Amino acid sequence: MDMTTYKLAVIPGPGIGGEVVPEAIRLLESTDLNFDCRYFEIGFEVWQQTGTPVPDDVLAGVRETQACLFGATTTPVGVPGYKSAIIMLRRSLGLYANVRPAKSYPTQKGMKDVDLVIVRENTEGMYSGWEFKLPDSAYTIRVISRKATERITRFAFELAMKRRKKVTVVTKANVLRVSDGLFLEVAHKVAEDFPDVEVEEAFVDVTAMRLILKPNIFDVIVTSNLFGDILSDESAGIVGGLGLAPSANIGADYALFEPVHGSAPRLAGKNIANPMAAIMASKMMLDYLGENSWAERIENAIVSVLKEGKVLTPDLGGSSSTKEVTDAIIDAL
Ligand code: NAI
Ligand code: MG
Repeated sequence: MDMTTYKLAVIPGPGIGGEVVPEAIRLLESTDLNFDCRYFEIGFEVWQQTGTPVPDDVLAGVRETQACLFGATTTPVGVPGYKSAIIMLRRSLGLYANVRPAKSYPTQKGMKDVDLVIVRENTEGMYSGWEFKLPDSAYTIRVISRKATERITRFAFELAMKRRKKVTVVTKANVLRVSDGLFLEVAHKVAEDFPDVEVEEAFVDVTAMRLILKPNIFDVIVTSNLFGDILSDESAGIVGGLGLAPSANIGADYALFEPVHGSAPRLAGKNIANPMAAIMASKMMLDYLGENSWAERIENAIVSVLKEGKVLTPDLGGSSSTKEVTDAIIDAL
């Protein structure tokens, strides 16, 4: 009998994060796997109390676990000195690869035959955190380093080897000649180690359009932080919306899994947020932990609930609650 107990850090967060993550945990606990869940809080309130959005003792506690399931943060705009907690957490844990699959599932919403993954650089780019203000102007420093570009493009090529062997390197190198020039240079150097992978260069604006017109031409897209953030919400949209979109943040020795969506304050408290994105994130976590057969069973259970089309939240055209959808997925398991 397999008695492994997985140590998990769980950070549900505010808004619908606090509604969908407990559902994912409830589903995990309905399997025959064992979990030791340790709960943590990060974010704005924590910053108000302690002066940092991600205190050292939280980081230390998270580091004692094998993986993290995360819900959402709420980042108030225009509060001087405050920085996004999730961005800080990803950087502190060295989670350099943000992996966001967009796959067609049997739903009325969304396009057919899409199966792509956006690999987003997660530690620098436009989200370097280097911002400052002069009296009449404001600056953000876009950092592209050889080291971070090397590891993110290598990650993308390795992923492509397990898939359809195509990588699209997305930049705006015609305008951001220096920074994205370096990104492209490094990507092509890494590509030399993967002669079986087809490499394509594309600008971010044309990629935004092609994702809508012809999403099935893409396999793996690799890009810098801001572009990846935008394109991954777009790719979530073409396959049925944020209620279905999971993501993984992967580092050398740790990983954090979260829905692509945030705290969605307008939906919060109504028990109608779709739990599928968070449950798909927990499915990606099981793959990471090596529990591939449970991961596959969870995905199949979601597919069967979608196919049946009877128990769905409003974002997918249904009228069921968060909890009812989770119950249906657990039944299908
Ligand atoms: P959001 O992703 O929270 O929600 C956008 C819209 O998508 C919602 O209004 C809703 O219509 C729909 N939606 C999202 N998740 C859904 C679900 N599970 N089921 C059904 N519909 C769903 O983005 P928004 O409203 O721009 O941001 C709200 C807050 O969340 C902000 O403070 C933002 O900074 C934060 N945020 C945090 C993220 C994170 O922690 N990783 C990611 C995105 C936003
Ligand atoms: Mg985003």
